[in-house]
Amino acid sequence: MAVDKLRKEETLEMRKRLIGQSCRLFYSDNPVKIVRARGQYLFDENGMRYLDCISNVHHVGHCHPSITKAATAQMELLNTNSRFLHDNIVLYADRLAATLPSRLCVFYFVNSGSEANDLALRLAQQYTQHEDVIVLDHAYHGHLKSLIEISPYKFRKLAGQKEWVHVAPLPDTYRGIYREDHPNPSQAYADTVKDLIEEAHRKGRKISAFFAESVPSVGGQIILPQGYSPKVAEYVRSAGGVFVADEVQTGFGRLGSHFWAFQQQDDDFCPDIVTMGKPMGNGHPLACLVTTAEIAAAFTANGVEYFNTFGGNPVSCAIGLAVLDVIENEDLRGNASRVGAHLKDLLTKLKTRHQIIGDVRGAGLFVGVELVTDRQKKTPATETAASLVKRLKEEDRICVSTDGPWENVLKFKPPMCFSVEDAEQVACCIDRILTG
Ligand SMILES: Cc1ncc(COP(=O)(O)O)c(C=O)c1O
Repeated sequence: MAVDKLRKEETLEMRKRLIGQSCRLFYSDNPVKIVRARGQYLFDENGMRYLDCISNVHHVGHCHPSITKAATAQMELLNTNSRFLHDNIVLYADRLAATLPSRLCVFYFVNSGSEANDLALRLAQQYTQHEDVIVLDHAYHGHLKSLIEISPYKFRKLAGQKEWVHVAPLPDTYRGIYREDHPNPSQAYADTVKDLIEEAHRKGRKISAFFAESVPSVGGQIILPQGYSPKVAEYVRSAGGVFVADEVQTGFGRLGSHFWAFQQQDDDFCPDIVTMGKPMGNGHPLACLVTTAEIAAAFTANGVEYFNTFGGNPVSCAIGLAVLDVIENEDLRGNASRVGAHLKDLLTKLKTRHQIIGDVRGAGLFVGVELVTDRQKKTPATETAASLVKRLKEEDRICVSTDGPWENVLKFKPPMCFSVEDAEQVACCIDRILTG
């Protein structure tokens, strides 16, 4: 039974008064109050059902009974910190290791993607003894001060670019500097990173790390050209730096075909550090960093303990294990491949009917639809994207959001139990609204 303690207007008034206004609401002019959820569906205080196309955190489905059961059972038994010997943390690390290349074998458990990326910065700088970082344009890696400094999406609106941060062009073959018609976009984009390294060297600076999401999301659901990451890793490593793959959004089988999105680049490609978060705990704050034995040893060698009060506690690890079980038992990667391909296919068909759809891209249940007012000039259709999001919510109770530098890319990152019927409903409603 839903628990609704306050009238919606009271909740809104209290939220405005008590919660920092920079913590924004979806649909701020008419927010939705969600009181319960199941699978890919959210229910408001009146029992109205909304289809969730946004939440890549509730990976195996909202309030999945297996996750709730695992959490409750461990919570009833014990919850300590990782300074006591406990089975869950090692069993969980072992299960995660089985999904990763064997070089990535040392784990640090934390509570958020930001904590994982901040730790990645520390590890990279400690291991390389260099300071500088290369990031992709429009990237977002977290809300800590250290990460705002390596997130062009944020620092451009704040204090600006630090001298130790270098921004490489986003390898976007739809509207970037090298497009589909380029003979070798992966090499051309990788060479932009090489140029940045050489420029940094000329200034007497040294590269500690290259950070990139394996499929840049805030940048607009950009699929990196195949082979880009291995080439970049080669340049970065020859400069003495390390390659950090931010899998906070894309890990745990979201792309269907692979458990980790970096694996899409090349079967043999292995980053030096991988960070993960959002889907890991299905809503419970659980995140992680995995790295090589050498990088971990350099971090240990500084003699300073790494202690994280909540990271890797028995309850978090029990939940993490349960999430892995559900992904396997319910073949959610298979579902992401099948339903994601169907959704992309339906949306691609809409492109032939609606000039405003400039591009449909993505893999598995990580799909972007870029809206443009002019296909030749690729002028971002920001207002139409905002109006479509609003109408889908008000007329069809479908929750979708936008991303990309111009907020003109509709993004679909639903719970992995999203169904063929859900995909058909979404495509049908978008078609109706765009036709109108
Ligand atoms: C790619 C990426 N990295 C890191 C983060 C930060 O994760 P968290 O919000 O869990 O700190 C986010 C959050 O949106 C993200 O999208």
